[in-house]
Amino acid sequence: MSAWVAGRGEPLRGRVRVPGDKSVSHRAVMLGAIAEGSTRIEGFLEGEDTRATARGFSALGVRVDAPAPNLRIVHGVGLHGLAAPSAALDCGNAGTGMRLLAGLLAGQRFDSLLVGDESLSRRPMRRVTGPLAAMGARIDTGEGGVPPLRIHGGQALHGMEHRTAVASAQVKSALLLAGLYADGPTTVVEPTPTRDYTERMLRAFGADIDFVPGRARLVPGPVLRGREVRVPADFSSAAFFLVAASIVPGSDLVLEAVGTNPRRTGLLAALRLMGADIRVLGEGEEGGEPVADLHVRHAPLHGIDVPADLVPDMIDEFPVLFAAAACAEGVTRVTGAAELRVKESDRIAAMATGLRALGVEVEEFPDGAAIRGGGVRGGGIDSRGDHRIAMSFAVLAQRATGEVRVDDVDNVATSFPGFVDLARGTGMALRAG
Ligand code: S3P
Repeated sequence: MSAWVAGRGEPLRGRVRVPGDKSVSHRAVMLGAIAEGSTRIEGFLEGEDTRATARGFSALGVRVDAPAPNLRIVHGVGLHGLAAPSAALDCGNAGTGMRLLAGLLAGQRFDSLLVGDESLSRRPMRRVTGPLAAMGARIDTGEGGVPPLRIHGGQALHGMEHRTAVASAQVKSALLLAGLYADGPTTVVEPTPTRDYTERMLRAFGADIDFVPGRARLVPGPVLRGREVRVPADFSSAAFFLVAASIVPGSDLVLEAVGTNPRRTGLLAALRLMGADIRVLGEGEEGGEPVADLHVRHAPLHGIDVPADLVPDMIDEFPVLFAAAACAEGVTRVTGAAELRVKESDRIAAMATGLRALGVEVEEFPDGAAIRGGGVRGGGIDSRGDHRIAMSFAVLAQRATGEVRVDDVDNVATSFPGFVDLARGTGMALRAG
């Protein structure tokens, strides 16, 4: 198990491009696989999560070429062309991979078995298997509703309207993908709108889908057509640099061509409410997704109550928001974010424990936390094998009075290969420990 040692570095400066978006990369492989013709994915995230998805489709009989890094050519086999896998499909650490695959595979003629790593094997799956069962799918979970998922093929799926209990793009996406194989329209209504990449990409591939924030309706029928997908830089990876540059005096950094889908940029709004100096420049579009350069300069931050309506739009960014809060003046309070307890780790507990180890005052709630900004000292952190916890403490260490050792950092490769080099290139002090 690897570790990092991080500490005060230089002000962050320069222009960087973080790797491709994880959500878009997963979906591009999946839709490319069941489309007719080939799909060229530029800017594909070479992370372990997304590579696991690509490997999964190879095991389902789809040729996936990797002629160069960050490039995949998926030779689609059509909606009904997937072949029975000869072994379990290993989704690794990826909740997105497993939950979306569960929807897609529920409509196939063959059986399949989905497994994951230790962290994924603890995560709740009934949120997808329950509504899929209502459509007619047959999926067995492990005891308590966790992986592995045993999917029984050959079931007739029925179109229906779902009102999802949790605001989850993964749940919505699983239902829409299953809906491609249903006998009538599938509608998903969410308690609060979540990221709409599946809807946008289904439409781009030729599916019959209508959607507005919080509601999507898919009518099965049209064949999907392979196409070119250009993956924007991942906002969730850019987030670490937005916070690092905000908290380190003298920083002046540009993050290039970041995906700015409004369902992803809640952290930008929250940081601005805290006083951050972030400008959105050169807004454009890449592959149907909004992208922009983000120019961030150091600014003193102050605590806020994070508005409830921002929570789903920044669901992956709370660990790094907690790091920002530890450097802000006053208290930052987050509520309505109980989902953080069932991510790659219990992110509320992981951050609260780690922040306290660095001398930061934290009050934990079942659905959030209150963090009092102030001095941050050196110390030891257990990332609990969670990529975003590890990177958040590497960021916070840039303001600590002593060195911060972060243990169990290997899983950073799931979402952000090359993080250490990129971070050091901007001025951050971070090395293998
Ligand atoms: C994702 C949706 C979110 C997010 C995850 C990626 C996706 O999960 O946390 O990192 O690609 O659909 P939930 O849908 O469970 O909130």
